Amino acid sequence: MAFVNENYFKLSPSYLFAEISRRVDAFKKANPQKSVVRCGIGDVTEPLPQACIEALHKAVDEMAARETFRGYGPDHGYDFLRHAIAEEYRARGMSIEDDEIFVSDGSKCDCANFLDILGTGNRILMPDPVYPVYADTNVMAGNTDVSFLDGTLENGFVPAPPKEKPADLIYLCFPNNPTGAVATREQLAAWVDYARRNNALILFDAAYEAFIRTPGIPHSIFEIPGAETCAVEMRSFSKNGGFTGLRCGFCVVPKAAMGRRKDGKAEAIHPLWSRRQSTKFNGVSYPVQRAAEAIYSAKGKAQVSGLTDFYMENARLLGSALKANGWEFIGGVDAPYLWVKCIAGKTSWDMFSYLLEQAGVVTTPGSGFGAKGEGYFRLSVFNSRANIEDVCSRFADLAKA
Ligand code: MLT
Repeated sequence: MAFVNENYFKLSPSYLFAEISRRVDAFKKANPQKSVVRCGIGDVTEPLPQACIEALHKAVDEMAARETFRGYGPDHGYDFLRHAIAEEYRARGMSIEDDEIFVSDGSKCDCANFLDILGTGNRILMPDPVYPVYADTNVMAGNTDVSFLDGTLENGFVPAPPKEKPADLIYLCFPNNPTGAVATREQLAAWVDYARRNNALILFDAAYEAFIRTPGIPHSIFEIPGAETCAVEMRSFSKNGGFTGLRCGFCVVPKAAMGRRKDGKAEAIHPLWSRRQSTKFNGVSYPVQRAAEAIYSAKGKAQVSGLTDFYMENARLLGSALKANGWEFIGGVDAPYLWVKCIAGKTSWDMFSYLLEQAGVVTTPGSGFGAKGEGYFRLSVFNSRANIEDVCSRFADLAKA
């Protein structure tokens, strides 16, 4: 018999969103007459932008003709897409080169896979509450030196770098999942400064940058001078372009970003990630990469901004409904999530059950994102307008009941 990874036994038995699905399915089975609206997992509902659809159709036709058919693509992504992505960074004043872009099947996989190229014994820092993938994948990898920085209402769920504690690896996500908080330029600069002083690496998850509406909020860690020496950035087309079902994202790994060997010798991260991806990943399909490229066309950009505006209007409607009920929350301004305080005396899972049973609304319990998420729940704005209006009126009915 093969030995199994003992670390898996340190995890909670199921992944947060799998557990939510299990509970919702059980509820629906027991209450087949009740309608349920899902505001739990952040999964998009609206169709792909037209520019992406056209690019997909065209690419599929290419695959249908011998002259234009393509087999294996380049491991790190087609040049046309790497170039389009890097050009967008350059247009925003960041000097990212085409070959610093690694196309992937999404940020969740990238942030998990990155641990492959990092050694053991790293001192790891991440906020609490936090996207559970960061914490779970470190448990799976057997990393035990993981510290959490408390996100609270007082610090706006943007913890500052610790004064004493040096770290080797830091996870940051802004706009934040789950809280919807954003970091200002000064706050991100403090993290870059901390990382540089401690020779640490920041894994920056910018999957939700397209939802930033407040001027001056950085969309990328690379807007901060010096970040190219101490950070990699993960982005996804899942939420801006609605690619959760298509699967495409990318990781920006600057050639200047450094790690170190056991003997202290500095080593660039870029060749290691390149080696890892060439060995373990065969790239994203050609039609999907063409669809992703279309996001950077003038038409694509306009359609994506229409799509994100649509979801942010959902956020506004949900926010008004919460306010009308006197429920305290943050987020929903520069991010597609609202982070809401539970009714006094209810835990996150109590609140989950209460909203499911009394209103038929699926939420995500805050405690699923860490101990500091206890007492909160998360609402996703990814839904049709009809469903969001329905949720608003279900909340209003709850307040009257
Ligand atoms: C979430 O709901 O937190 C996200 O949809 C999860 C993900 O993007 O993997």
